[in-house]
Amino acid sequence: METEESGFMTSMLRSYNEALSKDSYAKLWKNEKREALTKAYLNEISTEETNAHCLRNRYFLETIKTRIKNNEIDVLINFGSGFSMYPFLITPSLINIEIDKPQIVNYKKKKIAQWQKEQLLPKREVHFIGVDFSKAYEQELYTKILSITKNKSSLILIEGVLFFLKMNECNKLFNFFRKIQKTGDFIGSVSFNDAVKETTAFQKLLTYINKKGNNISASDCLSLPDCFYEQLEGYKLIDRQDYYSLSKTYSNPIKLNKDLILNEVFYVLQKD
Ligand SMILES: C[S@@+](CC[C@H](N)C(=O)[O-])C[C@H]1O[C@@H](n2cnc3c(N)ncnc32)[C@H](O)[C@@H]1O
Repeated sequence: METEESGFMTSMLRSYNEALSKDSYAKLWKNEKREALTKAYLNEISTEETNAHCLRNRYFLETIKTRIKNNEIDVLINFGSGFSMYPFLITPSLINIEIDKPQIVNYKKKKIAQWQKEQLLPKREVHFIGVDFSKAYEQELYTKILSITKNKSSLILIEGVLFFLKMNECNKLFNFFRKIQKTGDFIGSVSFNDAVKETTAFQKLLTYINKKGNNISASDCLSLPDCFYEQLEGYKLIDRQDYYSLSKTYSNPIKLNKDLILNEVFYVLQKD
């Protein structure tokens, strides 16, 4: 699966249940091709993916809003931001930094500017930075981020990204987060536990990805145990949710049985 394609699909899914996702701008990314791809993805893998993605957006949107309300953050830094629309769903006073592959951020920046000109999107302070997490990025990215944040409090978001990375790239990112954040700052992260790899839904996901010319097995897909977060140096795990717990919180009726659901786990950490 192309990472770009996965970003568009995430937006399509958020737009299919706006009441649940609370993302009223995801639909801006809609076009016929992206909708057809998303419909095929839902049919081939799991129809529960719509509400799973909507709840993920809802959970992080509420987390960000709460931290803003408590005056705990000034900057939102989204690693692998794709086509998510958080900056436009929160207060204009926040500084936003969106980091993704250069072709993604360049395209997003152009479309955002166009939609703002057409008054389809409100104005926000958004800094776009093109980076590939599989390359050496630390020094340059550190300087760029610090020149924007000027040591202000931040919430780092990394959702729907770790699945695509290698373990060493994941560790490098979390080490980098530790360097750019200070005491009291937050990380919101999403990953799969190993258990998901035993499900029929995950087997279907692999088939779907490999049908597109890849040749990957379950062991090539990054999953993280809870203890990765519980033992993360310099951070305290302050919240853990998944599709089932969020479905209870937001009264989402679950239709399929567990074996047919890709259950992602959502974590919030705070720096010591
Ligand atoms: C499924 S999308 C999720 C996008 C966004 N976080 C969201 O939840 O809407 C995955 C994103 O991770 C980005 N990504 C994957 N591998 C990456 C890498 N090596 N370097 C930078 N970005 C990467 C992709 O470009 C894509 O935008």
